[in-house]
Amino acid sequence: EAIEKGGYPHFMLKEIFEQPRSIYDSMRGRLDASTGRLTLGGLIEYQNRLANADRIIMVACGTSWHAGLVAEYIFEELARIPVEVEYASEFRYRNPIIRENDIVIAISQSGETADTIAAVQIAKAKGALILGVCNVVGSTIARMTHAGAYTHAGPEIGVASTKAFTAQLTVLTMMALFTAHKKGTISEARFRQLLVGLETLPQKVEETLERVHEPIKKIAALFKDARNFLYLGRGCNFPVALEGALKLKEISYIHAEGYPAAEMKHGPIALIDNQMPVVFIALQDSSYEKIISNIQEVKARNGRVIAIVNEGDEVVKNMAEFVIEIPKTEEILSPILSVLPLQLLAYHIAVLRGCDVDQPRNLAKSVTVE
Ligand code: G6P
Repeated sequence: EAIEKGGYPHFMLKEIFEQPRSIYDSMRGRLDASTGRLTLGGLIEYQNRLANADRIIMVACGTSWHAGLVAEYIFEELARIPVEVEYASEFRYRNPIIRENDIVIAISQSGETADTIAAVQIAKAKGALILGVCNVVGSTIARMTHAGAYTHAGPEIGVASTKAFTAQLTVLTMMALFTAHKKGTISEARFRQLLVGLETLPQKVEETLERVHEPIKKIAALFKDARNFLYLGRGCNFPVALEGALKLKEISYIHAEGYPAAEMKHGPIALIDNQMPVVFIALQDSSYEKIISNIQEVKARNGRVIAIVNEGDEVVKNMAEFVIEIPKTEEILSPILSVLPLQLLAYHIAVLRGCDVDQPRNLAKSVTVE
Protein backbone atom coordinates (compact mmCIF):
# COMPACT_ATOMS: atom_id res chain seq x y z
CA GLU A 1 0.00 0.00 0.00
CA ALA A 2 2.88 2.34 0.82
CA ILE A 3 4.05 1.88 -2.76
CA GLU A 4 0.59 2.64 -4.14
CA LYS A 5 0.57 5.86 -2.17
CA GLY A 6 3.69 6.91 -4.04
CA GLY A 7 5.41 8.39 -0.99
CA TYR A 8 2.36 10.32 0.22
CA PRO A 9 0.94 9.56 3.67
CA HIS A 10 -2.59 9.20 2.29
CA PHE A 11 -4.28 8.49 -1.02
CA MET A 12 -6.19 11.73 -0.70
CA LEU A 13 -3.04 13.84 -0.63
CA LYS A 14 -1.58 11.87 -3.52
CA GLU A 15 -4.75 12.39 -5.51
CA ILE A 16 -4.84 16.11 -4.75
CA PHE A 17 -1.31 16.40 -6.11
CA GLU A 18 -2.17 14.30 -9.15
CA GLN A 19 -4.58 16.94 -10.42
CA PRO A 20 -2.25 18.62 -12.92
CA ARG A 21 -1.93 15.21 -14.55
CA SER A 22 -5.55 14.10 -14.32
CA ILE A 23 -6.78 17.38 -15.81
CA TYR A 24 -4.21 17.11 -18.58
CA ASP A 25 -5.22 13.50 -19.25
CA SER A 26 -8.88 14.49 -19.43
CA MET A 27 -8.05 16.95 -22.23
CA ARG A 28 -5.37 14.96 -24.03
CA GLY A 29 -6.21 14.25 -27.66
CA ARG A 30 -9.40 16.25 -27.33
CA LEU A 31 -8.29 19.83 -27.69
CA ASP A 32 -5.57 21.84 -29.32
CA ALA A 33 -5.70 25.57 -28.75
CA SER A 34 -3.14 26.37 -31.45
CA THR A 35 -5.41 25.00 -34.19
CA GLY A 36 -8.70 25.71 -32.42
CA ARG A 37 -9.63 22.05 -32.39
CA LEU A 38 -11.96 20.52 -29.85
CA THR A 39 -13.31 17.01 -30.34
CA LEU A 40 -15.15 14.74 -27.99
CA GLY A 41 -15.12 11.45 -29.88
CA GLY A 42 -18.12 9.90 -28.17
CA LEU A 43 -20.27 12.97 -28.70
CA ILE A 44 -19.63 13.83 -32.34
CA GLU A 45 -22.78 12.15 -33.55
CA TYR A 46 -24.77 13.96 -30.86
CA GLN A 47 -23.35 17.43 -31.40
CA ASN A 48 -26.46 18.59 -33.25
CA ARG A 49 -28.74 17.16 -30.59
CA LEU A 50 -26.74 19.03 -27.95
CA ALA A 51 -26.83 22.27 -29.90
CA ASN A 52 -30.60 21.96 -30.38
CA ALA A 53 -31.42 20.86 -26.85
CA ASP A 54 -34.21 22.83 -25.17
CA ARG A 55 -32.93 21.91 -21.75
CA ILE A 56 -30.17 19.93 -20.08
CA ILE A 57 -30.84 18.04 -16.88
CA MET A 58 -27.83 16.92 -14.88
CA VAL A 59 -28.28 14.10 -12.40
CA ALA A 60 -25.64 13.18 -9.82
CA CYS A 61 -24.87 12.75 -6.12
CA GLY A 62 -22.31 14.20 -3.71
CA THR A 63 -19.28 15.84 -5.22
CA SER A 64 -20.44 14.94 -8.73
CA TRP A 65 -23.61 16.94 -8.05
CA HIS A 66 -21.40 19.93 -7.20
CA ALA A 67 -19.62 19.51 -10.52
CA GLY A 68 -23.05 19.64 -12.15
CA LEU A 69 -23.84 22.89 -10.35
CA VAL A 70 -20.67 24.52 -11.67
CA ALA A 71 -21.42 23.17 -15.15
CA GLU A 72 -24.87 24.77 -15.00
CA TYR A 73 -23.22 28.20 -15.01
CA ILE A 74 -20.88 27.22 -17.81
CA PHE A 75 -23.47 25.65 -20.12
CA GLU A 76 -25.90 28.50 -19.63
CA GLU A 77 -23.23 31.12 -20.19
CA LEU A 78 -21.64 29.56 -23.26
CA ALA A 79 -24.38 27.55 -24.92
CA ARG A 80 -27.42 29.48 -23.67
CA ILE A 81 -29.26 26.26 -22.86
CA PRO A 82 -31.27 26.18 -19.61
CA VAL A 83 -29.83 23.66 -17.19
CA GLU A 84 -31.31 21.96 -14.17
CA VAL A 85 -29.14 20.09 -11.73
CA GLU A 86 -30.87 17.38 -9.77
CA TYR A 87 -29.95 15.12 -6.91
CA ALA A 88 -30.39 11.72 -8.51
CA SER A 89 -32.13 10.51 -5.34
CA GLU A 90 -34.81 13.20 -5.65
CA PHE A 91 -35.17 13.06 -9.40
CA ARG A 92 -35.88 9.33 -9.38
CA TYR A 93 -38.89 9.61 -7.10
CA ARG A 94 -40.51 12.64 -8.58
CA ASN A 95 -42.09 11.52 -11.83
CA PRO A 96 -39.81 14.03 -13.56
CA ILE A 97 -40.90 15.93 -16.65
CA ILE A 98 -38.66 15.07 -19.59
CA ARG A 99 -39.44 16.34 -23.06
CA GLU A 100 -38.28 15.27 -26.47
CA ASN A 101 -35.53 17.86 -26.82
CA ASP A 102 -34.18 17.50 -23.31
CA ILE A 103 -30.82 15.90 -22.70
CA VAL A 104 -29.88 14.21 -19.46
CA ILE A 105 -26.24 14.22 -18.37
CA ALA A 106 -25.38 11.72 -15.63
CA ILE A 107 -22.22 12.60 -13.73
CA SER A 108 -20.57 9.87 -11.66
CA GLN A 109 -16.98 9.11 -10.77
CA SER A 110 -17.63 5.42 -10.07
CA GLY A 111 -20.47 4.95 -12.52
CA GLU A 112 -22.01 2.70 -9.85
CA THR A 113 -23.99 5.01 -7.56
CA ALA A 114 -27.39 3.38 -7.06
CA ASP A 115 -29.45 6.58 -7.11
CA THR A 116 -27.75 7.86 -10.25
CA ILE A 117 -28.28 4.51 -11.97
CA ALA A 118 -31.98 4.65 -11.09
CA ALA A 119 -32.24 8.24 -12.36
CA VAL A 120 -30.71 7.18 -15.67
CA GLN A 121 -33.14 4.27 -15.93
CA ILE A 122 -36.11 6.55 -15.41
CA ALA A 123 -34.90 9.15 -17.90
CA LYS A 124 -34.22 6.40 -20.42
CA ALA A 125 -37.69 4.96 -20.02
CA LYS A 126 -39.08 8.39 -20.82
CA GLY A 127 -37.12 8.44 -24.05
CA ALA A 128 -34.44 11.01 -23.19
CA LEU A 129 -31.01 11.11 -24.74
CA ILE A 130 -28.62 10.33 -21.91
CA LEU A 131 -24.97 11.25 -21.83
CA GLY A 132 -22.53 10.09 -19.20
CA VAL A 133 -19.55 11.74 -17.57
CA CYS A 134 -17.93 8.84 -15.74
CA ASN A 135 -14.43 8.07 -14.58
CA VAL A 136 -14.59 4.29 -14.44
CA VAL A 137 -14.46 2.81 -17.91
CA GLY A 138 -17.13 0.20 -18.54
CA SER A 139 -18.99 1.01 -15.31
CA THR A 140 -22.76 0.54 -15.11
CA ILE A 141 -23.63 4.16 -15.89
CA ALA A 142 -21.07 4.34 -18.68
CA ARG A 143 -22.72 1.30 -20.25
CA MET A 144 -26.31 2.47 -19.73
CA THR A 145 -25.93 5.92 -21.26
CA HIS A 146 -26.27 6.47 -25.01
CA ALA A 147 -22.92 8.21 -25.24
CA GLY A 148 -20.59 10.28 -23.15
CA ALA A 149 -17.18 11.66 -22.42
CA TYR A 150 -15.00 9.96 -19.86
CA THR A 151 -12.95 11.80 -17.29
CA HIS A 152 -9.44 10.38 -17.27
CA ALA A 153 -8.59 11.00 -13.65
CA GLY A 154 -7.28 7.48 -13.06
CA PRO A 155 -8.37 5.40 -10.08
CA GLU A 156 -9.54 7.46 -7.12
CA ILE A 157 -9.09 5.63 -3.82
CA GLY A 158 -9.67 8.31 -1.16
CA VAL A 159 -13.35 8.31 -0.23
CA ALA A 160 -13.48 12.11 -0.42
CA SER A 161 -13.43 12.91 -4.12
CA THR A 162 -10.78 15.38 -5.29
CA LYS A 163 -9.18 14.71 -8.66
CA ALA A 164 -12.40 13.26 -10.05
CA PHE A 165 -14.13 16.58 -9.33
CA THR A 166 -11.66 18.74 -11.23
CA ALA A 167 -11.62 16.22 -14.08
CA GLN A 168 -15.43 16.39 -14.23
CA LEU A 169 -15.25 20.19 -14.41
CA THR A 170 -12.71 19.93 -17.21
CA VAL A 171 -14.83 17.52 -19.25
CA LEU A 172 -18.10 19.35 -18.62
CA THR A 173 -16.47 22.62 -19.71
CA MET A 174 -15.29 20.95 -22.91
CA MET A 175 -18.82 19.64 -23.48
CA ALA A 176 -20.25 23.13 -23.02
CA LEU A 177 -17.70 24.60 -25.44
CA PHE A 178 -18.30 21.81 -27.94
CA THR A 179 -22.03 22.55 -27.80
CA ALA A 180 -21.65 26.34 -27.93
CA HIS A 181 -19.31 26.15 -30.90
CA LYS A 182 -21.78 24.08 -32.89
CA LYS A 183 -24.67 26.27 -31.83
CA GLY A 184 -22.88 29.49 -32.68
CA THR A 185 -23.45 31.06 -29.27
CA ILE A 186 -19.74 31.73 -28.88
CA SER A 187 -17.45 33.80 -31.10
CA GLU A 188 -14.44 32.10 -32.63
CA ALA A 189 -12.15 34.43 -30.69
CA ARG A 190 -13.76 33.64 -27.35
CA PHE A 191 -13.76 29.93 -28.19
CA ARG A 192 -10.03 30.08 -28.81
CA GLN A 193 -9.44 32.05 -25.63
CA LEU A 194 -11.19 29.42 -23.58
CA LEU A 195 -9.25 26.62 -25.25
CA VAL A 196 -6.07 28.41 -24.26
CA GLY A 197 -7.50 28.81 -20.77
CA LEU A 198 -8.11 25.08 -20.55
CA GLU A 199 -4.73 24.17 -21.96
CA THR A 200 -2.90 26.29 -19.43
CA LEU A 201 -4.83 24.86 -16.48
CA PRO A 202 -2.57 21.90 -15.60
CA GLN A 203 0.34 24.31 -15.18
CA LYS A 204 -1.74 26.66 -13.05
CA VAL A 205 -3.05 23.81 -10.94
CA GLU A 206 0.51 22.77 -10.25
CA GLU A 207 1.53 26.32 -9.36
CA THR A 208 -1.48 26.67 -7.08
CA LEU A 209 -0.81 23.45 -5.20
CA GLU A 210 2.81 24.42 -4.63
CA ARG A 211 1.97 27.89 -3.59
CA VAL A 212 -0.93 27.23 -1.22
CA HIS A 213 0.24 24.07 0.50
CA GLU A 214 2.35 25.62 3.27
CA PRO A 215 0.02 28.54 4.04
CA ILE A 216 -2.94 26.14 4.20
CA LYS A 217 -1.09 23.93 6.70
CA LYS A 218 -0.68 26.94 8.99
CA ILE A 219 -4.33 27.86 8.72
CA ALA A 220 -5.32 24.25 9.37
CA ALA A 221 -3.28 24.24 12.59
CA LEU A 222 -4.99 27.41 13.78
CA PHE A 223 -8.53 26.27 13.04
CA LYS A 224 -8.39 22.53 13.65
CA ASP A 225 -10.50 22.79 16.80
CA ALA A 226 -13.24 24.93 15.29
CA ARG A 227 -16.71 23.47 15.80
CA ASN A 228 -18.23 25.04 12.72
CA PHE A 229 -17.09 26.44 9.41
CA LEU A 230 -18.91 28.55 6.87
CA TYR A 231 -17.91 28.62 3.19
CA LEU A 232 -19.17 31.40 0.96
CA GLY A 233 -18.88 32.06 -2.76
CA ARG A 234 -20.88 33.55 -5.60
CA GLY A 235 -21.54 32.65 -9.21
CA CYS A 236 -19.68 29.57 -10.40
CA ASN A 237 -17.72 29.62 -7.16
CA PHE A 238 -20.84 29.13 -5.05
CA PRO A 239 -20.79 25.37 -5.75
CA VAL A 240 -17.10 25.42 -4.79
CA ALA A 241 -18.18 26.73 -1.37
CA LEU A 242 -20.52 23.73 -1.13
CA GLU A 243 -17.70 21.41 -2.13
CA GLY A 244 -15.26 22.95 0.38
CA ALA A 245 -17.79 22.45 3.16
CA LEU A 246 -18.52 18.89 2.05
CA LYS A 247 -14.81 17.99 2.05
CA LEU A 248 -14.40 19.28 5.60
CA LYS A 249 -17.50 17.48 6.89
CA GLU A 250 -16.60 14.21 5.22
CA ILE A 251 -13.13 13.78 6.60
CA SER A 252 -12.74 16.00 9.69
CA TYR A 253 -16.28 15.67 11.10
CA ILE A 254 -16.47 19.42 11.66
CA HIS A 255 -19.86 20.84 10.88
CA ALA A 256 -19.58 23.03 7.81
CA GLU A 257 -22.02 24.79 5.56
CA GLY A 258 -21.56 26.19 2.10
CA TYR A 259 -23.77 29.05 1.04
CA PRO A 260 -24.10 31.58 -1.76
CA ALA A 261 -22.53 34.63 -0.12
CA ALA A 262 -25.53 36.90 -0.72
CA GLU A 263 -27.90 34.42 0.87
CA MET A 264 -25.96 34.61 4.14
CA LYS A 265 -28.17 37.46 5.31
CA HIS A 266 -31.15 35.13 5.25
CA GLY A 267 -29.79 32.80 7.89
CA PRO A 268 -26.14 31.93 8.46
CA ILE A 269 -25.27 35.50 9.42
CA ALA A 270 -26.97 34.76 12.73
CA LEU A 271 -24.22 32.22 13.48
CA ILE A 272 -21.32 34.58 13.01
CA ASP A 273 -19.25 35.52 16.05
CA ASN A 274 -15.55 35.62 16.87
CA GLN A 275 -15.45 31.81 16.94
CA MET A 276 -16.67 31.33 13.40
CA PRO A 277 -14.19 30.77 10.58
CA VAL A 278 -15.65 31.94 7.28
CA VAL A 279 -13.92 30.87 4.09
CA PHE A 280 -14.63 33.20 1.19
CA ILE A 281 -13.88 32.56 -2.44
CA ALA A 282 -13.24 36.17 -3.39
CA LEU A 283 -11.73 36.24 -6.85
CA GLN A 284 -11.42 39.28 -9.09
CA ASP A 285 -14.32 38.32 -11.31
CA SER A 286 -17.84 39.56 -12.01
CA SER A 287 -18.82 39.00 -8.35
CA TYR A 288 -15.81 40.75 -6.84
CA GLU A 289 -17.43 43.97 -5.59
CA LYS A 290 -20.36 42.05 -4.19
CA ILE A 291 -18.23 39.56 -2.35
CA ILE A 292 -16.21 42.36 -0.80
CA SER A 293 -19.37 43.71 0.80
CA ASN A 294 -20.15 40.23 2.08
CA ILE A 295 -16.68 40.07 3.66
CA GLN A 296 -17.39 43.40 5.36
CA GLU A 297 -20.63 42.02 6.75
CA VAL A 298 -18.79 39.09 8.30
CA LYS A 299 -16.02 41.31 9.66
CA ALA A 300 -18.55 43.63 11.25
CA ARG A 301 -19.67 40.63 13.31
CA ASN A 302 -16.12 39.61 14.21
CA GLY A 303 -16.14 36.50 12.05
CA ARG A 304 -12.69 35.16 11.18
CA VAL A 305 -12.21 35.61 7.46
CA ILE A 306 -10.05 33.28 5.39
CA ALA A 307 -10.18 34.42 1.76
CA ILE A 308 -9.15 32.68 -1.43
CA VAL A 309 -8.06 35.56 -3.66
CA ASN A 310 -6.28 36.19 -6.95
CA GLU A 311 -2.56 36.81 -6.66
CA GLY A 312 -1.74 40.44 -6.00
CA ASP A 313 -5.14 41.31 -4.55
CA GLU A 314 -4.41 44.06 -2.03
CA VAL A 315 -7.99 45.00 -1.26
CA VAL A 316 -9.08 41.71 0.26
CA LYS A 317 -5.65 41.28 1.86
CA ASN A 318 -6.35 44.37 3.92
CA MET A 319 -9.70 43.03 5.04
CA ALA A 320 -9.23 39.33 5.66
CA GLU A 321 -7.36 37.74 8.56
CA PHE A 322 -5.80 35.25 6.12
CA VAL A 323 -5.54 35.24 2.37
CA ILE A 324 -4.60 32.38 0.10
CA GLU A 325 -3.49 33.48 -3.35
CA ILE A 326 -4.25 31.58 -6.51
CA PRO A 327 -3.39 32.45 -10.13
CA LYS A 328 -5.85 34.23 -12.39
CA THR A 329 -7.72 32.36 -15.05
CA GLU A 330 -10.99 32.68 -16.96
CA GLU A 331 -13.90 33.06 -14.54
CA ILE A 332 -15.65 29.87 -15.65
CA LEU A 333 -12.43 27.90 -15.21
CA SER A 334 -11.64 29.36 -11.80
CA PRO A 335 -13.47 26.66 -9.76
CA ILE A 336 -10.75 24.22 -10.86
CA LEU A 337 -8.21 26.38 -9.04
CA SER A 338 -10.27 27.72 -6.15
CA VAL A 339 -11.26 24.27 -4.95
CA LEU A 340 -7.61 23.20 -4.50
CA PRO A 341 -6.88 25.12 -1.27
CA LEU A 342 -10.21 23.91 0.12
CA GLN A 343 -9.28 20.28 -0.54
CA LEU A 344 -5.96 20.81 1.20
CA LEU A 345 -7.56 22.64 4.13
CA ALA A 346 -9.97 19.77 4.76
CA TYR A 347 -7.13 17.27 4.42
CA HIS A 348 -4.78 18.97 6.87
CA ILE A 349 -7.47 19.68 9.44
CA ALA A 350 -8.54 16.03 9.32
CA VAL A 351 -4.94 14.82 9.71
CA LEU A 352 -4.37 17.15 12.68
CA ARG A 353 -7.55 15.87 14.30
CA GLY A 354 -6.31 12.32 13.91
CA CYS A 355 -9.07 11.29 11.52
CA ASP A 356 -8.88 8.44 9.07
CA VAL A 357 -8.65 10.60 5.97
CA ASP A 358 -8.93 7.91 3.32
CA GLN A 359 -11.66 5.91 5.06
CA PRO A 360 -13.89 8.34 6.94
CA ARG A 361 -16.48 6.83 9.24
CA ASN A 362 -19.90 5.99 7.83
CA LEU A 363 -18.97 6.88 4.26
CA ALA A 364 -18.37 4.69 1.25
CA LYS A 365 -16.44 5.45 -1.90
CA SER A 366 -19.27 4.22 -4.01
CA VAL A 367 -22.81 4.03 -2.68
CA THR A 368 -24.24 1.07 -4.53
CA VAL A 369 -27.27 0.66 -2.27
CA GLU A 370 -30.08 3.09 -1.78
C1 G6P B 1 -20.10 8.91 -2.35
C2 G6P B 1 -18.64 9.34 -2.29
C3 G6P B 1 -18.51 10.77 -2.84
C4 G6P B 1 -19.09 10.86 -4.23
C5 G6P B 1 -20.54 10.36 -4.27
C6 G6P B 1 -21.02 10.21 -5.70
O1 G6P B 1 -20.82 9.68 -1.44
O2 G6P B 1 -18.16 9.26 -0.99
O3 G6P B 1 -17.14 11.12 -2.87
O4 G6P B 1 -19.04 12.18 -4.67
O5 G6P B 1 -20.63 9.08 -3.66
O6 G6P B 1 -20.27 9.21 -6.32
P1 G6P B 1 -20.10 9.03 -7.86
O7 G6P B 1 -19.21 7.84 -8.00
O8 G6P B 1 -21.49 8.78 -8.43
O9 G6P B 1 -19.53 10.26 -8.42
